Amino acid sequence: MPPIGADSQIEVARSIESLRARVDGWRADKLTVGFVPTMGALHRGHLSLIAKAASLADRVVASIFVNPKQFAPGEDLASYPRQEARDLELLASAGCQLAYLPDAAVMYPPGFQTSVAVAELSKGLCGESRPHFFGGVATVVCKLLNQARPDIAVFGEKDFQQLLVIKRMVRDLDMPVEIVGAPIVREADGLAMSSRNAYLSAEERKRAGALNRVIADVARDLENGARVDTALRSGRAALEAAGLTKIDYLEARSAENLTPLGPGPLAGAPARVFAAIFVGKARLIDNWPVGGDRG
Ligand code: PAJ
Repeated sequence: MPPIGADSQIEVARSIESLRARVDGWRADKLTVGFVPTMGALHRGHLSLIAKAASLADRVVASIFVNPKQFAPGEDLASYPRQEARDLELLASAGCQLAYLPDAAVMYPPGFQTSVAVAELSKGLCGESRPHFFGGVATVVCKLLNQARPDIAVFGEKDFQQLLVIKRMVRDLDMPVEIVGAPIVREADGLAMSSRNAYLSAEERKRAGALNRVIADVARDLENGARVDTALRSGRAALEAAGLTKIDYLEARSAENLTPLGPGPLAGAPARVFAAIFVGKARLIDNWPVGGDRG
């Protein structure tokens, strides 16, 4: 596992054996291990997860694997941005000691046929328009956690449904790891950072900035006692007025188990506003807590 660059501290593992050799060595030294799974094309959102893992564990492993099982035919698997050398530098500078970069043959060798399904939480929201998605995510994250065997693993609230799916999987399968959520890192205009923002033209990028403002407004209206149906109707109108007309979903759901909320005012349980829109070639998602900061 050679270091990358003269002054970089990061090591690279491309096989399960070399990953485990390093992690087992740390364990033998009584060091705790934090893990951050990613698909690369790293930005400050990903790096905040590395920082969080570094604050909670002695050593940090990050994986970069563009997981074919979570892309449907016709989605952006082939065009998903790949920038390995830059990602390794970013990981090193953020405090990650080991990068795990398996290729598809390591992850899914010939004969592979098992999948992990988290039934209820995978329905609705992103599961509606991307029915293949959470099965692919749960399967690869289950494998990554079994391969790396970390003490903790950090996931972003940017993908809030994914975070809940993984927490449920870990509980249901008795996996010995603690799943930690981390807040959404945003651009100056509030757009949630995403590898897919790179698909946006300058004009689309400008328009996309309205998404977070609209869901924050919906969350504030709900907090102030508005009916859910009324607040969501105004939110849709606001998205359309901002030129964001291709709405995949705009919904308010329980922040604990994603149960849809009834049409009237909120009853008091924690709630969150969720949205997905198509802008140019990108599909962007975001969410906002009811009662959260306007950031
Ligand atoms: P990816 O989209 O690369 O995201 C990796 C992690 O970074 C996820 O936990 C995601 O929620 C987090 N993240 C992305 N943007 C963020 C932002 N703006 N602020 C905070 N965290 C952010 O999510 C995946 O990859 C994959 O589905 C994966 C879990 C790696 C399985 O293949």
